[in-house]
Amino acid sequence: MKRLAGKKNREMEFFELKTQYRRIEKQIKKSIESVFESGSFILGENVSLFEKEFAEFENAEGCVGVASGTEAIQIALQANGIGKGDEVITAANTAVPTVSAIECAGARPVLAEICIESYTIAPEKIEEKITEKTRAIVPVHLYGRSCDMKPILEIAEKHSLKVIEDCAQAHGAIYNGKKTGTMGNAGCFSFYPTKNLGAYGDAGAIVSNDKKIIEKAGMMRAYGEKKRHESEISGMNSRLDELQAAMLRVKLKHLGKWNDLRRKKAAFYGKLLEKSGLALPEEKSSAGHVYHLYVARAGKRDLFREKLLEKGIPTAVHYPKPVHFHPAFRYLGNKAGDFPNAEKACSQVVSLPLYPELPNEKIEFACEKIIETMKQNPNSFETK
Ligand SMILES: Cc1ncc(COP(=O)(O)O)c(C=O)c1O
Repeated sequence: MKRLAGKKNREMEFFELKTQYRRIEKQIKKSIESVFESGSFILGENVSLFEKEFAEFENAEGCVGVASGTEAIQIALQANGIGKGDEVITAANTAVPTVSAIECAGARPVLAEICIESYTIAPEKIEEKITEKTRAIVPVHLYGRSCDMKPILEIAEKHSLKVIEDCAQAHGAIYNGKKTGTMGNAGCFSFYPTKNLGAYGDAGAIVSNDKKIIEKAGMMRAYGEKKRHESEISGMNSRLDELQAAMLRVKLKHLGKWNDLRRKKAAFYGKLLEKSGLALPEEKSSAGHVYHLYVARAGKRDLFREKLLEKGIPTAVHYPKPVHFHPAFRYLGNKAGDFPNAEKACSQVVSLPLYPELPNEKIEFACEKIIETMKQNPNSFETK
């Protein structure tokens, strides 16, 4: 590496939101103030406008703002008629909330194997999981990379299954020219603060091209009401609030630019680590990655992370255990060895620092330390 990073650039954080906040502080404060001035805090103008603007961004017919990504999945499933007695197939390496949402909808989660290159559900492993009770597939666009949707949609069509896309990590990701979230029956987003589009608290949304689903989900998130004090269907309280919607409207304007920055920084990592021996994220033009996370794979991953931390490089793991290794999901009846790719991925994945404001000098510094660590520990961390 030509330029040695200065001291300031050696202070790495895995992730931070303050720099972004400083850059949009005035707009955020103005948006908060306008909500307080309006005196309207629940299902007001900002929620309606955000729903319209986010639907436009995602090229969807409609959008319903809800309280979290988990409830977005739950409501989307229920709005599609899925509940008690039904089985829903999803990826064995997903974040736990995908599975919790399926349970909250009343259905039984059924785990399926993943592709080791993409970390997303392996289409060829789905059909063997289908029973007469299967009603839906929840493909998870993990880390910001689209699942291979064409075969998934074909399987769904063949077996009359619904497809509810988990887009919690994939705002703006594109598969063969289509936005993730718009290919199945509904797409579910989380606006947890660290997401590519993050609120300042919990928030989520459902998008769909089916107006009936949008209408139903809109009722379900507010006690099943179409008009005040008249519940037409069963529902709950999962409203996106005006303050979060107002702040999300500010941030949505920057999302395209932030996603571009994430892609550029990921490409920079890719260039610097090309010969490192780590397995790097697979780039496929059809999968329109938005790099919510930059996830590599290393052998002896935990030791690798310790060595990097000693050199000042913080990393994270998304996620250390596949779903069936959690005590809460033992009842599903899966055992170690059932999903070799998911299990291998969970034992090797390591997320490197990546966010739109991360200076390139820090990426250079991190890569310098990674390569140094690999050289100091030959035949230890290579996965390629
Ligand atoms: C893949 C995935 N699905 C679902 C969720 C749930 O979103 P939330 O935390 O907003 O409920 C998350 C959030 O962490 C996620 O990463």
